[in-house]
Parts: sequence; structure tokens; C-alpha cells
Amino acid sequence: MRIPLIAGNWKMNGTLDHIKLLIEQLKQGGQDFPQIEILVCPTFVHLSIVHDLIKHSSLKLGAQNCYVGTQGAFTGEVSGPMLAELGCEYVLVGHSERRTLFQENLPSVAAKFQAAVEAGLKPILCIGETQAEREQGLTEKILHSQLESVIQSVGIAAFAQAVIAYEPVWAIGTGLTASPEQAQSAHAYIREVIAQNNIDLAKTIRILYGGSMKADNAAALLSMPDIDGGLIGGASLEAKSFLQICAAAAHQFQVEQTTN
Ligand code: PGA
Repeated sequence: MRIPLIAGNWKMNGTLDHIKLLIEQLKQGGQDFPQIEILVCPTFVHLSIVHDLIKHSSLKLGAQNCYVGTQGAFTGEVSGPMLAELGCEYVLVGHSERRTLFQENLPSVAAKFQAAVEAGLKPILCIGETQAEREQGLTEKILHSQLESVIQSVGIAAFAQAVIAYEPVWAIGTGLTASPEQAQSAHAYIREVIAQNNIDLAKTIRILYGGSMKADNAAALLSMPDIDGGLIGGASLEAKSFLQICAAAAHQFQVEQTTN
């Protein structure tokens, strides 16, 4: 049974006041969903404070990025061991905004994935096609190359502690969402690629959907057999909508447990 993971990617958002209130509300509301994992990924500068705020709760902490080196003359960068020391359990790797706005490419994403694993962090590898790629029928080709480049360079065994997030670029922050069937088809394909490398891992690895997941579409997406949670941007900045998504995941998990 794959434990659902609902992850909030706060991106470059959050004032101290907003964060304190949001965490307070998530700590309270999150208690209703002990069956699932709930993760928040604040900016680097907010990690420490969020770490302190979530103490004595089941909320988990993740970062949005990490550098490949461990320490040294890399002005402005933050390493995996630093994140681990601050209490991060997860780190996003290869988010599409990093790939497009900050020129991350297949080798650099693979290197970051490796750095995260070496630091004892659980990488959440983000992959997904653009609108143009989907229209040209290239979705699976893109997913395959984004996955394979990491598998080839890091080895499939490193995926034992990883999570994959399928995030169609055209659905991120746009209000457009992949239909449950479109998302399921991509997730099933991702699981198939993992299965070609390691069949047991394919059964256990969690694949999250990301891209305008909201309270009103979460239940339908999460009811798909290969969707094991969500990576939520906009809707994670407000406790009410994020907790509604958590409720949908917890409900779906319960349904699956009673039917299996
Ligand atoms: P969104 O962002 O939910 O605002 O579309 C998702 C993401 O970028 O991880």
C-alpha cells in the first residue's frame, strides 16, 4: 500500500506572519489525516522557522532545490547536507520552473538527484511535458528521457527513497488541469518505465500529480490507481484548500484499504 503524500510547494511565497498562521492551521487540521503524509516546502530562508513551528506535529519539511556540491565557493547556493541538518526530509529536484527559468538540464537535474540521495534526503523528481510537446504527441518521449537520464546516471536503486511528481508544464499555475484520465495515463507510463528497471520498485514508488490541483479536482485525480498524492503550488498557500486536498487523499486511501 502506497501512503499518499500531499506536498505543498510554496515557491517564492510567504511572509513570516502568513507562514506562522498557515502552519498553525495546518498543524491543527492535519491531525485529522494521520493516514497520509503532509509535506511543506518553504523557501530556503523560511526552512528553519518552519522547522521550529512544525515541531511536535506530523507535518514534514522539504526544500525546493539543492546544489550538487556539499560545501565551498558556490556563492548563493545551498547544499543537501545543509538542508538535512536543518531538518528537511525531502527536496524537490528538477521542477519545471527550475528547468525553464534557471536553465537546469537533464545532467544537472540528475546530479542534484544524486546529491540529494547522498545527503540522505528524499528527492521528489519533477517531470512533465510542455503544451507543444503534448500537442506533438511527445509526452511519453519526454517523460522517458527525463526519467532515463536520472536512472542512467544515478542508478535505479537510488529511486528506493525517491518520489516522482508528474507535472505537465501547461497545467502549472495556469488553472488548466490534466483530466484524471490524461494524468492516469502519464502516471501509468512512468510506473512502466520504472518497472522496466525494477519491477518491485515500480509497485512501491509514489507518483504525485502536480499542476493546478485544487480542492475541487483533487478527489477525481487522487482516485486514479497510479496517482499517489499531489504536489500543490497555489492551493498550498491557503490552509483551507490544502487541507481539503489532504482530506480527499485520506478519504481515497481509506476507500482503497477497505476494498483491498
Ligand atoms: P500549481 O503548482 O499547483 O500552482 O499549478 C504546482 C507546482 O508547480 O508544483
